[in-house]
Amino acid sequence: MANIEENVKVAKVLEKIKNRLLVFSGKGGVGKSTVSANLALALANKGKKVGLLDVDIHGPNLPKMLGVENENMGISSEGIKPVRVNDNLHLVSMSYLLQGPNVPVIWRGPMKMKAIEQFLGDVAWGELDWLVIDSPPGTGDEPLSVAQLIPASGAVVVTTPQEVSVMDSRKAVAFARKLNLNILGIIENMSGMACPHCGEKIDLFKEGGGYKAALDLNIPFLGKIPLDPQIVILGDEGKSFITSQPESDASKAFMKIAEKILKAQKAA
Ligand SMILES: Nc1ncnc2c1ncn2[C@@H]1O[C@H](COP(=O)(O)OP(=O)(O)O)[C@@H](O)[C@H]1O
Ligand SMILES: [Mg+2]
Repeated sequence: MANIEENVKVAKVLEKIKNRLLVFSGKGGVGKSTVSANLALALANKGKKVGLLDVDIHGPNLPKMLGVENENMGISSEGIKPVRVNDNLHLVSMSYLLQGPNVPVIWRGPMKMKAIEQFLGDVAWGELDWLVIDSPPGTGDEPLSVAQLIPASGAVVVTTPQEVSVMDSRKAVAFARKLNLNILGIIENMSGMACPHCGEKIDLFKEGGGYKAALDLNIPFLGKIPLDPQIVILGDEGKSFITSQPESDASKAFMKIAEKILKAQKAA
């Protein structure tokens, strides 16, 4: 059980955050971090004050994707200062704590969740419209603890179009329902791509699985994000995708989904 003092500290931090969006998936590798980063950027582009929280200790890659991997979180009298990505977007990532040869054992052992909780209570986000949370993959203990630690006002499930992944997203939706999370919808990532030579659409991983899952599970379908090689290339170069390629189909899809999330949250 979490101790009360830490709970109160986390609650105080969360008080100043209007909306909290948990991004999760049934399994890893479906683009959860990519979606978290680009949705956070999309919301920030729309003038919202956004925080992005990377709690995936096993594969924290948001600092790299957003070109701030050589920065570090600072300390002020109010607490830990998030890293600035742009005027409207700030990032807190566990990877900043995991650098160097003296990585504390605590981050690997059973004390991990306790340490995360303690840490979250010390972050000085300030006033935020949105906190986007890239949760650990899967539906096991870790994402469960994170979801309990940071009660989210809304959750989105990321899936790929394949049948296996759709099965995983069913699991993810069941998990969200158990936690009484308000599921804003499913996002189908890596959904088809334009042939680089002729522009014709290729459905590399099939298409429509996320849509079908949304229909079956009776939750909104938020949209499809096509496969775009630039997402990988720019991510490796530390350039944020929707900022660098605003005219691409994938960027437009991210912006549309952000608009839907804003609308859904207003209606809730
Ligand atoms: N729509 C997309 N088009 C092309 N590559 C993508 C797309 N979404 C994700 N990727 C790539 O797939 C890999 C896994 O994505 P990532 O966001 O790290 O997944 P997860 O956080 O679910 O493990 C990364 O190399 C990322 O750049
Ligand atoms: Mg990830």
